[in-house]
Amino acid sequence: MNPDIPPAACERRIGQGPWNGDLLLFECLPSTNRWALEHVRDLAHGDAIRAVRQTAGRGRFQRRWFAPEDRALALSVALHPDRLRADTIAAIGQAAAVAIQETLAEYRLPALLKWPNDVMLAGRKIAGALAEQDSASGRTVLGMGLNVNVTAADLSFILPRESATSMLVASGQTYDVAEAGAVVLRELSRFIARMESEGACALPAHWARYDFLQGRLISVQETGGSVTGRYAGLDSLGRLRLVTTAGDERLFWSADVSLQETTGPAARNDPA
Ligand code: BTN
Repeated sequence: MNPDIPPAACERRIGQGPWNGDLLLFECLPSTNRWALEHVRDLAHGDAIRAVRQTAGRGRFQRRWFAPEDRALALSVALHPDRLRADTIAAIGQAAAVAIQETLAEYRLPALLKWPNDVMLAGRKIAGALAEQDSASGRTVLGMGLNVNVTAADLSFILPRESATSMLVASGQTYDVAEAGAVVLRELSRFIARMESEGACALPAHWARYDFLQGRLISVQETGGSVTGRYAGLDSLGRLRLVTTAGDERLFWSADVSLQETTGPAARNDPA
């Protein structure tokens, strides 16, 4: 990170982000993504920003993302386009979901991946990712939110549109948020390294093993309307493949997905 950034801007420089970047810790920010985008020209590849409390977190499709104090992980990483393959950048939100799913596996919490960037535990959303690009520099800010010690009471405020969970609610245990953040960063750099060496096809191969939508009838909402069909996995670039009810195959880079049926393979990590 540029040493000229005034120290007051960041509360503590602790430890490392991926690829020898700095890890900057803030007590409170409106949004780690917003701060990172505002300072993106001064951030090195792999600089990571974490906020203990985030007051106006951003989610996909202009939704809000709540991160109550020290109970949720709010983390953003700056990525430079000249340091990564274009197909890695194109699927970076999915790479973040994989990093969080692998993190949860380390905590013995068997999570699944829901296209495009969601992580599901026991049929409920536990984490999401939001990649935003600075058009002037071409740099990307990859934001990740994980409900760590979020309580059942907190969840009534979080993601009111969806059913959500946390590591605490799912397991009855509390966790060290900073430690969970360090594991996410390690898993992110590990999976990105795999995509850089094997190509983006590393993504669908991993995704298929943990796919929440596998075999589901789904509805894909785009700005122009919605399309219903059978989910057919990811293509080699991380796009969603849908076989419509008319039998055509459609590919989606970005959209919102909802289930059209409630039973099926995704129930496999539901508690018995
Ligand atoms: C989603 O599922 O809609 C994506 C949620 C992404 C939330 C994270 S929390 C850290 C980072 N900062 C933000 O303002 N948003 C992302």
